[in-house]
Amino acid sequence: MKKSFLLIIGFILLSISACEYKYIEPVVIELPEDEVISFVEQVEPIFQDKCVGCHASTNPVLTTGNAYDNLINGNYIDTVAPTSSALYEKVNEGHPGGSNVFNATELAILLKWIQEGAQNN
Ligand code: HEC
Repeated sequence: MKKSFLLIIGFILLSISACEYKYIEPVVIELPEDEVISFVEQVEPIFQDKCVGCHASTNPVLTTGNAYDNLINGNYIDTVAPTSSALYEKVNEGHPGGSNVFNATELAILLKWIQEGAQNN
């Protein structure tokens, strides 16, 4: 009797905890539509912060003043299919170390810059 009572309690507790599902709010970064991303002011500083530790000599060289030419000439940017850009893919996932990826805001900035035609601005 006591055993089955515990079993029922256990079952109830289990069903309660099963009902409580976790919903993780997707991160949606809204950048102002009318604001054009500046490569020099918004993109290059991220490279400086997160990338040049390795990409001062490894291709693509991303040091300030050189990053733009190297990215364009090295075909790392695809303005027709921005999310397929080699650069975008590398900083979104799949990169040595793993911790070198961009956060959601940085990704949104980079993507918007590519969508705006990857200007040298
Ligand atoms: C810990 C060192 C390190 C850091 C930091 C680093 N990278 Fe890299 N990266 C590498 C190495 C090594 C390779 C070559 C191996 C590969 O392609 O995975 C590489 C390759 C790449 C490539 C592809 C090159 C090619 O020609 O295929 C891109 C693009 C790139 N990195 C971008 C970045 C960006 C942008 C950052 C900053 C967010 C960054 N990396 C930070 C080490 C690093």
